[in-house]
Amino acid sequence: MITRRNFNKGAVAGAAAIAAAPLLDTYMSTQALAQNAPAPSRPLNIPPLYAGKISGGVRVFDLNMRRGNTEFFPGVKTPTLGINADFLGPVLHMSAGEQVRFNVKNSLGEPTTLHWHGFHLPAKHDGGPHQEIAPGQTWSPQFEIKQHAASFWYHSHMLHQTAAQVWRGLAGMMIVDDAHARALSLPATYGVDDIPLVLQDRSFNRDGSLSYSTDMHNTMMGNLGALLMVNGSINATFAAKTKLVRFRVLNASNARFWTIGFSDERPFHQIATDGALLERPVRLTRLSLGPGERGEIIVDLGDRKPVFLRNFPLPDGGGMMGGGGMMGRMMRRRGGGMSAGEGADFLQIIPASAQAPASTSAATLPNKLLSLPRLNPADAARTRRFVLDMRMGPMVMMGISNPVSINGKVMKLNRIDEVIKLGDTEIWEISNRSPMPHPFHIHDIQFHILDRDGRPPAANERGLKDTVVVNRGETVRVITKFEDYADAQTPYMYHCHILEHEDAGMMGQFTVVA
Ligand code: C2O
Ligand code: CU
Ligand code: CU
Repeated sequence: MITRRNFNKGAVAGAAAIAAAPLLDTYMSTQALAQNAPAPSRPLNIPPLYAGKISGGVRVFDLNMRRGNTEFFPGVKTPTLGINADFLGPVLHMSAGEQVRFNVKNSLGEPTTLHWHGFHLPAKHDGGPHQEIAPGQTWSPQFEIKQHAASFWYHSHMLHQTAAQVWRGLAGMMIVDDAHARALSLPATYGVDDIPLVLQDRSFNRDGSLSYSTDMHNTMMGNLGALLMVNGSINATFAAKTKLVRFRVLNASNARFWTIGFSDERPFHQIATDGALLERPVRLTRLSLGPGERGEIIVDLGDRKPVFLRNFPLPDGGGMMGGGGMMGRMMRRRGGGMSAGEGADFLQIIPASAQAPASTSAATLPNKLLSLPRLNPADAARTRRFVLDMRMGPMVMMGISNPVSINGKVMKLNRIDEVIKLGDTEIWEISNRSPMPHPFHIHDIQFHILDRDGRPPAANERGLKDTVVVNRGETVRVITKFEDYADAQTPYMYHCHILEHEDAGMMGQFTVVA
């Protein structure tokens, strides 16, 4: 038997290291609930795969955003939100080139939106803050899937409410398929050897309700939950039937940066980034994902040994340990809790003693996945610069200056920050002057990372991306092309994907014009 003592250790056990009183209370109440939590053998929740139905040549999805109750702890009902479910939503499946329509009904009793993260689409169908769905209304965007095969996601993007609504459950994964990916021999049987892992963290109050706060500390650091969960399950076990398993890993946390790996340090291969397969599998022992990012990995369970997926503490506390003054101290305190080298296990994997034969599942990895053309920096019409910054102190406390900004500005719904010419290739240069990392996300497009502080990106970051972590003090350059859709009236967003930062205004708007 393997030990279970590390299950969620570091997360809950970090309580004692947290000095702030309200936080301590939340950690203690979460711990109290966790002690009554199921033995760590609850089967991993695998959301249903939902392919909609074809009607008049269009793939139609009916999505109902609603309230529900979820038993994260046995016998304890937690009020949550979900899409066609009590918490989170189904995994939506569609193919490149298809027309899709989403009938999104808002049964929440409060306004919301639903955004298709990573999709290239007309701005009015993007589901950002300008496409608000009033309570009781149904919003029906229709567009063509112009993506490569990869894992995307959908989530609330309600102005100032995104963080709270996603925390309560308004998020789900989308899988896009294409002919090229289908022809590769990759594990692709959903729920068997092709498994979504929606990574989140949550804290609870003593009554079982989700604990969420918009105080200054949580606005600065984002809400970090005391418990790690996968697909809404805490301390889950996945019973693997095959030798190779593909995990589609989505960091759907509000603010937590994850660095995952296996408890026995076995290597694995990353095969896809946010928006496409990589050129070839990249061998890793750790995968770091900021909020919003995805990575598909393949692990070999041929030794039939049980193993845990573990969240490892970042070597430098995620870049959060630096910075002097009040913010530096706050971040150091928040970064504490896990002793170095130890991590929190969040998923137990138990391989079957008799594994499925190779004929029903991919047995070896292809060594070529996908070659994509790259844009030439010399063809860029211009370089646009974005400076991410954070502020603390009395002016912020009094509400005179804002804690977060991009280019010194705070998101305004009626201000277009950038206007881009349709068909232009552009370089976006994002500099982080704040003491913590920010995952920078751009709507409508996928990009390639050109460099980080002038150095080429790591092998597993060379694929298509829509979200990139910009570490403190770092400058990242990305290149992309704005194609197909122009609309001078309706903007797309770019923003930090720490949802509390987004809600506090670390977001801007761009239009693409003909
Ligand atoms: Cu994941 Cu602006 O979104
Ligand atoms: Cu997005
Ligand atoms: Cu941020």
